[in-house]
Amino acid sequence: MILTTPRLDLRELTDDDLPALRAILQDPETMTAYEGAFDEDMVQAWLARQKNRYRDDGFGLWAVILRETGEMIGQCGLTRQPILGEDVIEVGYLFTRSHWHRGYAIEAATGCRDHAFTVLGTDRVWAQVRDTNIASMNVAIRLGMTVRGRFVKHYRGVDMPHLAFAIDRAAA
Ligand SMILES: CC(C)(COP(=O)(O)OP(=O)(O)OC[C@H]1O[C@@H](n2cnc3c(N)ncnc32)[C@H](O)[C@@H]1OP(=O)(O)O)[C@@H](O)C(=O)NCCC(=O)NCCS
Repeated sequence: MILTTPRLDLRELTDDDLPALRAILQDPETMTAYEGAFDEDMVQAWLARQKNRYRDDGFGLWAVILRETGEMIGQCGLTRQPILGEDVIEVGYLFTRSHWHRGYAIEAATGCRDHAFTVLGTDRVWAQVRDTNIASMNVAIRLGMTVRGRFVKHYRGVDMPHLAFAIDRAAA
């Protein structure tokens, strides 16, 4: 177990999570900010990337388990990202659509933010958000983050304007 919150447990993703991962990554509405649903190869590559991150960095996007039912309802975690020309630590969050609007993203992301400060010892935690993704911006704002800059990310053949949110340890 990586960390726990009042309702959620966060642990590393495994092959057994593939059905739940597909429910997230192959849902067109959930993946709007990522330019649409992933095909099977992209799902497999996504899981492989998280496993590489666990091995290389000791952290990555983790599985979010609803303790009450044992279901995997989302992904939330910390990844290394290039943002505004620096190698930084980002908190990321993607949840199954059937579990949106119940405060799970903010609960899991708050746990990850605090983990970054207390366990990883970083001084600043970031979130990169596509400029059309209002739900994600609101999670970043609820995490206490402010906008530090703008940049364009090239992903899946598309130029995507992004906002770079961050919170400093002193403000958490
Ligand atoms: C972004 C996402 C993780 C939010 O998950 P969630 O569990 O519904 O969020 P929460 O219930 O914890 O809500 C957190 C805050 O965001 C706000 N919010 C959530 N969904 C929202 C929406 N669709 N529009 C506007 N605000 C929204 C909530 O109002 C809440 O703020 P409040 O408590 O001040 O009202 C979810 O919509 C998702 O998985 N989106 C697709 C994947 C994605 O784009 N991830 C982010 C990539 S940067």
